[in-house]
Amino acid sequence: MEESVLRAPVSFLVFAASLRAASLNAKLARLAAQEIEACGGQADLAAMRDFDCPSYDQDVQDSGKVPPGAVLFRERLERADAFVICSPEYNFSMPGVLKNAIDWVSRMHPQPFNERHGLLMSVSPSLAGGNRGLWALRVPLEHLGARLYPEMFSLAQAGEAFTAGGDIANPELRARFADGIRGFMDLVEAAKHYPCAKRQWIEFPGEPGLPAGQAARVKPGR
Ligand code: FNR
Repeated sequence: MEESVLRAPVSFLVFAASLRAASLNAKLARLAAQEIEACGGQADLAAMRDFDCPSYDQDVQDSGKVPPGAVLFRERLERADAFVICSPEYNFSMPGVLKNAIDWVSRMHPQPFNERHGLLMSVSPSLAGGNRGLWALRVPLEHLGARLYPEMFSLAQAGEAFTAGGDIANPELRARFADGIRGFMDLVEAAKHYPCAKRQWIEFPGEPGLPAGQAARVKPGR
């Protein structure tokens, strides 16, 4: 975890999508935050509990009562250039608590996932390391315009995967984890400092009932 790279400022929201006190994914999120700081970035390590929301209900949203967890989730996303999610795999998919928080935030304008870079990671006791859940998680995030890093990191057989001190036990996997984070940081840094082509996120093209011009929500460049 040592790096002497001079970077332009880049900031990352990092959190694990688990409410469990002894969460393995929270362990990985802590390591990711440490790696980011060691590589010259700024990490905002958050807890899923802070973003937890009651089940999405459009009547509640229409009445203007957006849950505080969703408001905070959006604020912390917007404060960061990019995000890292360490997500457990539940039944080959993402945990409901995460999907629910994404659903709430997706109704806000501007919608904070649009154009924001993201890196997905997981840990699981299984042999697949939770990787299938990450593929499911890509679907809503990519729909929302997030620029997800192509490589994902999944740590399998979690029982033996960490040292007593909380680091990744296997040196090759530890190096791969660090390389992945560094590569992601390089991309975020470059994207922040060079013009990007995509400026528009279209929500349900052709959706009936939207006045002309409201179907496409255009966000000015950062
Ligand atoms: C799991 N777990 C699990 N693991 C896996 O590799 N594939 C799966 O499909 C599932 N499905 C699943 C569903 C539910 C409801 C639970 C509670 C658990 C096991 C899961 O990976 C394990 O409990 C992790 O430790 C959860 O992550 P945290 O809380 O430790 O971060």
